[in-house]
Amino acid sequence: MGDKVFYVTTPIYYPSDKLHIGHALTTTMADTLARYKRLRGYDVYFLTGSDEHGQKIQRKAREAGMPPKKYVDGIVATFQELWRRLNISYNDFIRTTEPRHKRVVQYLLQKIYDQGDIYKSTYEGWYCTPCETFWTERQLVDGNCPDCGRPVELVKEESYFFRMSKYADRLLKYIKEHPEFIQPASRRNEMISFIESGLEDLCISRTTFDWGIPVPMDPRHVIYVWFDALTNYISALGYGTEDDHLFHKYWPAAVHLVGKDIVRFHTVIWPIILMAAGIEPPRQVFGHGWLLVDGGKMSKSKGNVVDPMVLIDRYGADAIRYFLLREMPYGADGYYSEEALINRINTDLANDFGNLLSRTTAMIEKFNGGIIESPAASEPLDDDLIATARLVPDEVDAALNNFEFARALTAIWRLVNRANKYIEETAPWALAKDPLKRPRLNTVLYNLAEAIRQATVMVGPFMPGVPPRVWEQLGLVDLPAAHTWESLAVWGGIPAGIRVKRGPALFPRIEIKKEEGEETMTEQEKGAATSPAVNETQEAAAGDEEITIEEFARIKLRVAEVLAAEKVANADKLLKLEVKVGNERRTIVAGIARYYRPEELVGKKVVIVANLKPAKLRGILSQGMVLAAVDDEGLSLITPEREIKDGTPVR
Ligand code: ME8
Ligand code: MG
Repeated sequence: MGDKVFYVTTPIYYPSDKLHIGHALTTTMADTLARYKRLRGYDVYFLTGSDEHGQKIQRKAREAGMPPKKYVDGIVATFQELWRRLNISYNDFIRTTEPRHKRVVQYLLQKIYDQGDIYKSTYEGWYCTPCETFWTERQLVDGNCPDCGRPVELVKEESYFFRMSKYADRLLKYIKEHPEFIQPASRRNEMISFIESGLEDLCISRTTFDWGIPVPMDPRHVIYVWFDALTNYISALGYGTEDDHLFHKYWPAAVHLVGKDIVRFHTVIWPIILMAAGIEPPRQVFGHGWLLVDGGKMSKSKGNVVDPMVLIDRYGADAIRYFLLREMPYGADGYYSEEALINRINTDLANDFGNLLSRTTAMIEKFNGGIIESPAASEPLDDDLIATARLVPDEVDAALNNFEFARALTAIWRLVNRANKYIEETAPWALAKDPLKRPRLNTVLYNLAEAIRQATVMVGPFMPGVPPRVWEQLGLVDLPAAHTWESLAVWGGIPAGIRVKRGPALFPRIEIKKEEGEETMTEQEKGAATSPAVNETQEAAAGDEEITIEEFARIKLRVAEVLAAEKVANADKLLKLEVKVGNERRTIVAGIARYYRPEELVGKKVVIVANLKPAKLRGILSQGMVLAAVDDEGLSLITPEREIKDGTPVR
């Protein structure tokens, strides 16, 4: 493995349905890394694809009245169209139904079988079809899949097994000796405890359906989809075939980007398959968190998906990419809402970045006839701008090497906003009035153009549509030397005498139409519609104002049981709760709809402020307030820690 080789992959998604923005998140992360490493001179290979076998797909196809291959062909075409529209620069798209993949899967399985790590036995257990996962009786939660909570099916059949247990110690040792292997560290710790709790052999064949790759030594069986799917990462490189030069070049430089749902498959099953076959494990697996929407995790099977194609039509690929990368906290879950997306577009993109470009080009046109003149000697204000810029590339590099996309963007925006502030500080319109201040004006305008140039180079991997449009306006289209990462090392990548051409707004502001029936929020409603207030959680309690015990005693807190809950029409944050407080029944409107589904709440004991003055929220009289704690992961209701009667005072 050469130093300058980078192999990045996304999961190969199931073509059981169209993709949603959760999938777009992983793929956008992978694309950003691929583009960044290319910009840094790496030899990059970026792989994505589709995972087309298995029981779930076979059923879906049957429901649609189509042969499975025809069914997946249609959906895979929508994947590829989405990636085209999202500007995804993959080098290869592998489909598990392709002969080039099937051959390698069979070769790999045969190889492990010949060497004695696969044996035939009887499988008896539970199968979750949506997750394509086997579970033992004791792993089930209330008889359902422990991952997704859906019903499982009893399976009893003759199967082939893979001796995973034999490799548990070797894997554990590998994980402990390679701290960079599983990222972030929290997932690494989860996986360590998972392996330490004992690995069972894995059932790797099925006979109850036939939409899969036949087991080479026993074709009545098809290969378990995860064995089939994981192999894509090396089948696409031609492993085990006549032409395996890609494999030799890019393996094991692999970085697998996945969601946290499938970290276990990638960090336990996959490295063990490779170890058994005598292949080195991949270099890294990064498991990001969920993208959540109102009502929890977005998923095809829950039906609460947001279609990225619709968003791209409405807001453009760059804005969607920016939102996904900027809004996902490192390693944790993030929230999608159209409101938050519009907010990012209007604030970060239109206001900060777009305005910087339009103000700068407008001033160069107005004051300097469109020409970027040479700067004169610099002053302390200039030095400060330049010093800010100098630190950003290394921080972007460190952040991206650590999968901290939001941190990288925040660093770039530090430069963007420093430049915006520089405009206010230097007031070029005032300099323009005084002919003696020409040299100073030239310096200021030069520095602004250079700040935009540097930010644009760095923003390219995240929003590939941005640089071409900025180069157009800054007159740098034909100057590739000004587009490189290396050019960031020196302040002054723009040759003097360049002519700018002010163009259309980079990111037009989105006007938010008030929806019919949407009233503005009252103060109390704002309180009820609690939203994660990151700063608040980080504030030390020591900063809080003191009250006396008498003052506290005026607040009557009581335990209440939720009898019923429903959404409030036209208010996407509010739930209407019917609660029982001793002998009394009350209605409470609470701003928790983004965090709890109504049905989850029924039967829960919560704590309410019982003597809060009733108030009308959306026409409903709310008699009290529910207590909740809020951090950047979301909101958690406060519930008594043991069974306790409703009506009981809390103090
Ligand atoms: O698991 N938030 O395919 P899949 C963030 N075929 N990421 C999400 C997400 C969400 N709400 N929903 C989906 C499979 N994802 C297998 C993979 S790989 C050898 C085989 C992303 O279609 C995330 O990357 O169910 C997650 O791991 C993946 O889509 C699951 O896609
Ligand atoms: Mg899934």
